[in-house]
Amino acid sequence: MPLREVEIEPTYSRPYKVVIGDCCIRKLPELLRDVVSEVDKVVIFIQESVKDLSPTQELVELLKELYETYTKIVVAGESAKDINNVLDAVGFLHSINATKSTLIIGVGGGALGDFVGFVASIYMRGLPLILVPTTLLSMVDSAIGGKNAVNMFGIKNVVGTIYQPRLVVEDLRYVYTLPEREFCSGLAEVIKYGVTIDPEILNLLRVRGDKILQREPETLTELIERSVKCKGWIVHLDEREERDVRQILNYGHTVGHAVEACAEGKLTHGECVMIGMIVESDLGNRMGYTDPDVHDVLLKLAETYKLPHKIPNYVSKESVLSKIEHDKKRYGNIIKLPVVKRPGEFEIIKLELMRLLSYLSNLLDEYYEK
Ligand SMILES: NC(=O)c1ccc[n+]([C@@H]2O[C@H](COP(=O)([O-])OP(=O)(O)OC[C@H]3O[C@@H](n4cnc5c(N)ncnc54)[C@H](O)[C@@H]3O)[C@@H](O)[C@H]2O)c1
Repeated sequence: MPLREVEIEPTYSRPYKVVIGDCCIRKLPELLRDVVSEVDKVVIFIQESVKDLSPTQELVELLKELYETYTKIVVAGESAKDINNVLDAVGFLHSINATKSTLIIGVGGGALGDFVGFVASIYMRGLPLILVPTTLLSMVDSAIGGKNAVNMFGIKNVVGTIYQPRLVVEDLRYVYTLPEREFCSGLAEVIKYGVTIDPEILNLLRVRGDKILQREPETLTELIERSVKCKGWIVHLDEREERDVRQILNYGHTVGHAVEACAEGKLTHGECVMIGMIVESDLGNRMGYTDPDVHDVLLKLAETYKLPHKIPNYVSKESVLSKIEHDKKRYGNIIKLPVVKRPGEFEIIKLELMRLLSYLSNLLDEYYEK
């Protein structure tokens, strides 16, 4: 199957390519020459869980033949984003005498990507960065658009920057080794693009469920390519969230992030986004913005793709409301809430925080497992 390429043209930063396909990592050494002119060394940060996978080993071997190459293994999961890891990485880069010509490559899921993106953006005010996302979620979402963040004082994503990569390489072979739960978690972000921007994605999710769950390469490629285009379109319109457009990528995330923060790592990001979209579509409907079909479509897709539609009872309603009250997407006492009118049509509404909390205080009761 030929490789697919999507060009991302952010509002301000330089454009870059996202290359998608089986074995496309083998092209990385060739592709990098077009995007980084002088390379004195390469540092590859690798999420521990993917270090022994063949695409990762191929990449390391290929680069070692061409450049002075260092590899740094980073702990898997959210712990990668601990600020102390950032300090360690800065120390490591200094110890190998990294310069503005040192290329940073990040191989891993969204957590690794957020960590490495942050490190690349702050070291000497920015080193060239290439991302190799290895989860479906990071391929369709976090590796594109430049947002990164790390955790500090126990607060998730409390410090971060917007720093675009020079290139993103998405080798489908990584998707085949994902545990089913992680794969379905990534589908939640795909569902988000379908409901907010590209209804053809919803169509694919509805009619090709079996092929998607079997991770059939052609269907996967189409889903990933369409999702990347959705994200690219938003980043083109509003790279820095200044025009009330990029907020649409947070659809389902107001409730989703709050649930995630209270679930103590027991739910994945995608699972929380799915719950969040289900609650927020109902909220949008009750506030008169959202066609009731949207909620029904989401419930059906959650069932097909083994994603939750209820908040587990160990997550207290009070703690969820308190997290929303301190949401970092607040502007004073206003929350900009993305709402969907019907699939593919969205709006960003400004809602007083207290009003949102009072709506949710009643609504959330309906979303607990009985
Ligand atoms: N920057 C953004 O725009 C953005 C957007 C969405 C999410 N995020 C962040 O992304 C993170 C979640 O990302 P994620 O869902 O990719 O989680 P993750 O990076 O924690 O990876 C999920 C799990 O899959 C494993 N894994 C990764 N690749 C694998 C592979 N190919 N085969 C087998 N196992 C593999 C990992 O070790 C981990 O245990 C969160 O920290 C979230 O805040 C950032």
